[in-house]
Amino acid sequence: MKLWGGRFSKETASSVDEFNASIDFDQKLYKQDIQGSIAHAKMLAKQGILSATEAELIIENLDAIHKEIEAGKVEFKIEFEDIHMNIEKLLIDRIGDTGKKLHTARSRNDQVAVDIRLYVKESITEITNLLKKMQKTIISIAEGHMDTILPGYTHLQRAQPVTFAYHIMAYFQMFSRDIERLDDCYKRTDSLPLGSGALAGTTYNTDREFLAKELGFSVICNNAMDAVSDRDFIIEFISDASTIMMHLSRFCEELILWSSSEFDFIEMDDAYSTGSSIMPQKKNPDLAELIRGKTGRIYGNLINILTIMKSLPMAYNKDMQEDKPPLFDTVETLKSSLYVFNEMIQTMKIKKDNMNHAAKTGFLNATDAADYLVEKGIPFRECHSIIGRLVLYCVENNHSIESLSLDKLKMFSDKFEDDIFEKIDIKNCIESKKSSGSTSKKSVTIMIENAKRKLNI
Ligand code: ARG
Repeated sequence: MKLWGGRFSKETASSVDEFNASIDFDQKLYKQDIQGSIAHAKMLAKQGILSATEAELIIENLDAIHKEIEAGKVEFKIEFEDIHMNIEKLLIDRIGDTGKKLHTARSRNDQVAVDIRLYVKESITEITNLLKKMQKTIISIAEGHMDTILPGYTHLQRAQPVTFAYHIMAYFQMFSRDIERLDDCYKRTDSLPLGSGALAGTTYNTDREFLAKELGFSVICNNAMDAVSDRDFIIEFISDASTIMMHLSRFCEELILWSSSEFDFIEMDDAYSTGSSIMPQKKNPDLAELIRGKTGRIYGNLINILTIMKSLPMAYNKDMQEDKPPLFDTVETLKSSLYVFNEMIQTMKIKKDNMNHAAKTGFLNATDAADYLVEKGIPFRECHSIIGRLVLYCVENNHSIESLSLDKLKMFSDKFEDDIFEKIDIKNCIESKKSSGSTSKKSVTIMIENAKRKLNI
């Protein structure tokens, strides 16, 4: 018979058991469920609701069940619907009536809420650690490429020269914001719903502060109805995950472009690339493409959970069981993407010479040439137009600005002197950037120092 079978005069249809059950996916929460139940049993004993011996027996057997699950010895049953009732049934099978007392002053509604909050908290910690690992990789790549120059792009058109260290440190900033966002989400997840009962609180003299301490929550949820109905933390978490994936996807897009023969700025390690089944010469950046693709899955998960929660009346509704597949998928996808991405960038070859070479064409020094004329007293807008005409001349005659003679340059402005050539030298274009946060070595050095301080390295 079902744990809730008393009110029913018929068994549920097997098709209903099948359809209603979440055990296939929520068995992932066995650890959190047992953790929550142990804390609950301790609290019940402390408050005199259970005797100390009863609580001890429950805890001992929950520990044993935990071990059996980890050893793969437990077969969960669809007829017991979810992880909560499967574990409770296992306990009752072992210790009979004492096991039946565990669910005193508790509902599956506050039970499932505490389980997922524990799961999301752990996941945030793991994902934050993976992000920090990746940031360390970024720093070490940056340190090795302080003098590697490549074109900086806007509209994917060559714009101004930058160093590779500077370019890659842009991603460090994105991942720092991601960590902050997760940290913020953690604060709201860190609130204990257990002890709320089904929706209205319980008649027992429970101690929720004790439960919060036992389970490592900073605060308790203040309104029992909200506590069992709230899934905002899942929405926030998947939204944060979506932003992380968006950042990874942009990074991947650059790596894919850079791996092409057209750019040829990097080469993925053989261990992190794949071949073609028909074209023998192919070496494809599949991992980067797949991470870019998996971003779609996470966005889908966000829309999924937002749509599940939309229009749900207070308090618990079974719809909410559907929160778990998108949540679990997000955690798994994000963790594996971060893990493999980190290995991929650690092993990729950076083709410094090709980057440097690309920075020589495309008039990357045109803005510096305009700035030169500003220094000579010409208003910027006018300088812009002079250099524009100069670039047009170069394009039409297949020249670079620096390959023109001073006499030729003077035809565009008599303010040009010999020092123009130093001013528009690519290296100088980088080092002469004075604003904080710029691509100059001085500024990138500060950036890296700050980054290391942030990571305590
Ligand atoms: N399996 C359920 C879920 O994941 C547990 C809570 C069920 N509560 C209920 N009143 N049916 O949401």
